[in-house]
Amino acid sequence: MPHFTEDWFSGHIPYWEKLFFEELGWRPDEARHVVEIGSFEGRSTLWFLANLLRHPASRVTCIDTFAGGAEHDAAQTTGLFERFQANLAASGEAVKAEVLRTDSASGLLRLLGRGGPGPALIYIDGSHEAADVLTDLVLAFRLAPEGGVILCDDYLWPHPDVLRSPKLAIDAFTNIHRNRIDILDGPHRVQLAFRKRAG
Ligand SMILES: C[S@@+](CC[C@H](N)C(=O)[O-])C[C@H]1O[C@@H](n2cnc3c(N)ncnc32)[C@H](O)[C@@H]1O
Repeated sequence: MPHFTEDWFSGHIPYWEKLFFEELGWRPDEARHVVEIGSFEGRSTLWFLANLLRHPASRVTCIDTFAGGAEHDAAQTTGLFERFQANLAASGEAVKAEVLRTDSASGLLRLLGRGGPGPALIYIDGSHEAADVLTDLVLAFRLAPEGGVILCDDYLWPHPDVLRSPKLAIDAFTNIHRNRIDILDGPHRVQLAFRKRAG
């Protein structure tokens, strides 16, 4: 059984089901690659594996320092990597996961250096500092193929300092690239998702 100490994830499930299965029309058994920036204890990782990555050739790449972000305390980060690993093992799907225990910029640059077709989905839920989110978006956009989806968590995270939260970066990025993306629908504006346009 997986062991979690936090749940920042379950509230997204109805929105994700609507986004992936209704709006995007994805089927769980199609082969695809998902890149996740920020795995923490693996709640979102396990959802991807159980719901989007059922095909034997499907893969998830998890990029996380497992050191926590500015908003996390020692109780949350002590033993974090071990909890994540145990939860992944308990899912029985660890063979589909590649874990890059590093900062997101280094992880994304590593993936960019490999070349290849690019992931169907990049989930950005790592550092919430605006400057880091902007870096994640710039690199994720380069990594994404045409039609690839980028999903950003905590778009409306109510932090009093705009530099310590993702919205400023997501707004800047989506405005600058407005001719190259389509914002995806969905009732749940706590997150924001968009698709890279063809051409
Ligand atoms: C909000 S948690 C992720 C939650 C997870 N997606 C879930 O649904 O349960 C954010 C994670 O990002 C990681 N993180 C913070 N800054 C990072 C960075 N610069 N690069 C990579 N990971 C980072 C933290 O270690 C933490 O595990």
